[in-house]
Amino acid sequence: MNTEMNKLLEKQLLWRYATKRFDPSRAISTEDWNTLEESLRLAPSSFGLQPWKFVVVTDKTTREALRPHSWNQPQIVEASHLIVLAAQKSVGPSDVDSFIDYISEVRGVPTSALSDYSGMMKGFLDALASNGTCEAWATHQVYLALGMLLSTASMLGIDTCPLEGIDATKYNELLNLPEQGYSAKVACALGYRSPNDQSSAFKKVRYSRAKIFQSV
Ligand SMILES: Cc1cc2nc3c(=O)[nH]c(=O)nc-3n(C[C@H](O)[C@H](O)[C@H](O)COP(=O)(O)O)c2cc1C
Repeated sequence: MNTEMNKLLEKQLLWRYATKRFDPSRAISTEDWNTLEESLRLAPSSFGLQPWKFVVVTDKTTREALRPHSWNQPQIVEASHLIVLAAQKSVGPSDVDSFIDYISEVRGVPTSALSDYSGMMKGFLDALASNGTCEAWATHQVYLALGMLLSTASMLGIDTCPLEGIDATKYNELLNLPEQGYSAKVACALGYRSPNDQSSAFKKVRYSRAKIFQSV
């Protein structure tokens, strides 16, 4: 039993809400930002393939340029940090080979010992490519990373707003993502809530446990 920890986690999960207005005068510290980036880097992904790119938009002019392509949402410019989560559009055999080489280097195992794993991944990705679902698969991984980011931020007492209200085509253009083989999927604004954000007082609207859980 770790009751104190459970209480703290639940308190922070309840504290988190999709922040509409951030306090532009408050910045996330370098130390906290580093931990937030680690939550993305350490996120799990299918086979561990990490088919993503996380674009930290620090340039003010770029953030201003993104705002009209984000339903004009103020979080884009008011939050301390803005990050765009992008999915790799196509993942193929060469990505698997690089990944296998990297596992071999990190874990000190010969690539020959990983050949079954390699074959399995290549077969899986080949099937995705044949039915045109590779980008959708990569997008699932990106959303999972977003979840890690949101949870970590809440534990650190940092506010967030996940932002799906973005024009991905415009984001791709402004951030030069397609040239690199990626496509923007979702963004996240991070920082500290403004004392004037009325939505911070809204009661959480969540279905009951009975409705959403099934016990078998
Ligand atoms: C993937 C995703 C995309 C979202 N996009 C937006 C958005 O563009 N703008 C916004 O204000 N809120 C956005 N939200 C926030 C949701 O509306 C919010 O999480 C939901 O209403 C539940 O409220 P709560 O997070 O405050 O508890 C998004 C949430 C998720 C998970």
